[in-house]
Amino acid sequence: MGDGVTPTAASAPGKCILFGEHAVVYGQPAVAVAIEQRLTVAMTPAPSWSVDGSPLNSKKHPHIVMLKDALMDEDRPMAIHISGDIPNASGLGSSAALSAAVGAAMHHLSTQQQPLDKDRLSSLAHLAEAHAQGGRASPMDASTSVEGGVVILSNQREERGDWLYTRRLETPEGERTWEVHSLPAATEEVHLVLGNTGVHAPTSRQVAMVAKALAAQPHRMQEIEAIGTVARRGIDALIRGDYEAVGHAMSENHLLLRNLGVSSPELENLIQAAAPTSLGVKLTGAGGGGCMVALTRDPKTTGEAIELAGGRVLISRLGNPGVHLDSSG
Ligand code: PMV
Repeated sequence: MGDGVTPTAASAPGKCILFGEHAVVYGQPAVAVAIEQRLTVAMTPAPSWSVDGSPLNSKKHPHIVMLKDALMDEDRPMAIHISGDIPNASGLGSSAALSAAVGAAMHHLSTQQQPLDKDRLSSLAHLAEAHAQGGRASPMDASTSVEGGVVILSNQREERGDWLYTRRLETPEGERTWEVHSLPAATEEVHLVLGNTGVHAPTSRQVAMVAKALAAQPHRMQEIEAIGTVARRGIDALIRGDYEAVGHAMSENHLLLRNLGVSSPELENLIQAAAPTSLGVKLTGAGGGGCMVALTRDPKTTGEAIELAGGRVLISRLGNPGVHLDSSG
């Protein structure tokens, strides 16, 4: 970048699931918000494709290779530089943010079009996620990162929220369909405090564990339905801007997730530390490790309590801007 060429740069947010993880796999609604933490990519014309100084490699960078093949001419190689503050592999959507930002920059380079075609971008980012995850990925992370704000996913059109589009994916288990909606972003001065346990628990393992429990005890599908009921209550509270009720629904959602068996001692430790100063608190994402989230009016005190209990802390407002172009070369 020292030669004076302005890179084409785009950034996209990570995400945090407020309601409905695991139950969404069985068709119940789930809600995610775009967080303040972002990932930025900067692309500069170069003699060959590279990512942070290493040659572009389809094993190491499956999302980028797929997007390049879909969006870019072969004869315009770029040096890609990635930066940002979304931790990797913690359930905060860093890979979808990478797909959204890379997709936005490549889309601009190949079409010079503004504004970005968000429907196409989120569809491509979803396909890139699925491509990198053996054909299984919901559009939750990709849509939240592209659209920003608050996103609801369900297997039916929900009365609450504005319907955006339907997403379909051919998975190893057959075709799956999702209805994607957006909710107005929150305006009130409430914050999310995310506490990272530092324990890595693969999403696939957690999802398989729930599937096994439901196969062994089919009556436990009631627990999945109960998560859906709580999620719908949480969505209503979000729309009303009633954050006491949002927090209450989050804590209820957590108890159901804990009963389902997807919490962990490390998550419970951070949740217990955050609870006294929070409106609501729960694990977020697949569980077993990864992150918890607290909704609070006092992020400093809640964050300190989580840190004292051994968690790594990120603070974010609810509902932040989606992908955007930061500069065009
Ligand atoms: O841990 P994350 O952010 O990848 O979230 C997983 C959410 C699940 O509902 C557990 C799985 C899924 O595909 O929706």
